[in-house]
Parts: sequence; structure tokens; C-alpha cells
Amino acid sequence: MDLRAVTTMCHTYLTRIHGISALLTLSTLAACGGQSGPAQQTAALPAGITYESHLAAGGNVPPGAALANPKSGNSAAAKAGEQMFSAMNCDGCHGGGGSGWVGPSLADGRWRYGGSDAEIFSSIYYGRPKGMPAFGGTVGIDGVWSLVTYLKSLPIPADVSTEAWDTD
Ligand code: HEC
Repeated sequence: MDLRAVTTMCHTYLTRIHGISALLTLSTLAACGGQSGPAQQTAALPAGITYESHLAAGGNVPPGAALANPKSGNSAAAKAGEQMFSAMNCDGCHGGGGSGWVGPSLADGRWRYGGSDAEIFSSIYYGRPKGMPAFGGTVGIDGVWSLVTYLKSLPIPADVSTEAWDTD
């Protein structure tokens, strides 16, 4: 670990927030006294995104992380996910086979929040605002990947009963 880099970072950060809050300054000092974060090990990851509402310590925006499904195409994981889909009552909202009920269909190839493995992971792990509970704390990372693998294994019907709003 390069201590000079950490010292510079702390100095820059403290300079930036000087005068905003003494409490924040104290907690920042405590944080700077500890170990450095993972930023040093993430040089190979994609660039991060700056959010106006977030203050990045030292101006160091955390890099983006690429979520890859470790169970992609694994039929045993898809089977486990299918069982979990029923056991966790996903089908109580999304219907049997994810065909749609009070929750949207998960089997028609159309996605409100994106249909990549990573996007479906986020939908299940963190939940979504209009009624989708977060299941990450209940089934864990491994369980969510099994659910993603199951949903991705569902065949998309040639004809679905409703039309997409966005026809691009
Ligand atoms: C209490 C009802 C309910 C339960 C239980 C539930 N969902 Fe949902 N789910 C919803 C609703 C409603 C939405 C739409 C949320 C929105 O539009 O913001 C949704 C959205 C989703 C999405 C995003 C769909 C898209 O089009 O992008 C996925 C994926 C999903 N749910 C998977 C699951 C899985 C897997 C489970 C079980 C672990 C589950 N849901 C349990 C109600 C539920």
C-alpha cells in the first residue's frame, strides 16, 4: 500500500469538506487512520460514474463493477432456482413459471429494468420500487444467481398476450 497516496487522498478530502461539518471531519479522520479501501486493487475495472448527489472521498470515484453470472447456463442451478421461485413465493406475485400476475411477466422477454443477467440480479437482490421486495438478504448472492439462471432458462414464447409500450 502506498501511504503517500492515502495521505494525499485524506488531505484533499478534508480540504474539500472543511467547514461543512466538524462531525463529518472527525469521522473522516477516523476512516483515514484505518486501512485503505479496495480502490488500489481495482485498476482493471471499468470507469466509475460521478453522481452529483454523492461525495467521493478524495475525488476518487469508485470504478464500476462488472457482474458476471457464475451459474450461467448451468441446468442444475436453473432447477434449484425453479424450486426457489416457488419456495420464496415469487410465483405468488409473478405467476407460475413467471408468466405474470400482480407482478410483471418474467417470461415474455420484455424487462422493465433490463434483461441482462446483471440487471435481473439487481432487480432480485435489491428489489425495485413499485412492489418488488429485495431478496438479497434472504436468499443471498448464490440464491439470487440461481433465480437469475432459472429465469434466463425460460423459453420466450413466439407470441405474447400483451404488446410492448416501447417497440424499438
Ligand atoms: C409481493 C409481490 C412480489 C414478490 C413476492 C416478488 N415479486 Fe418480483 N416484482 C414484483 C413487482 C410488483 C415488480 C415490478 C416492480 C417495478 O416495476 O418497480 C417485480 C419485479 C421483478 C423483476 C424485474 C422485472 C422486470 O421487468 O425488469 C424481477 C426480475 C423479479 N421481480 C423477480 C422476482 C423473484 C425472482 C422473486 C422471488 C424471489 C420475486 N420477484 C418476488 C412483485 C413481487
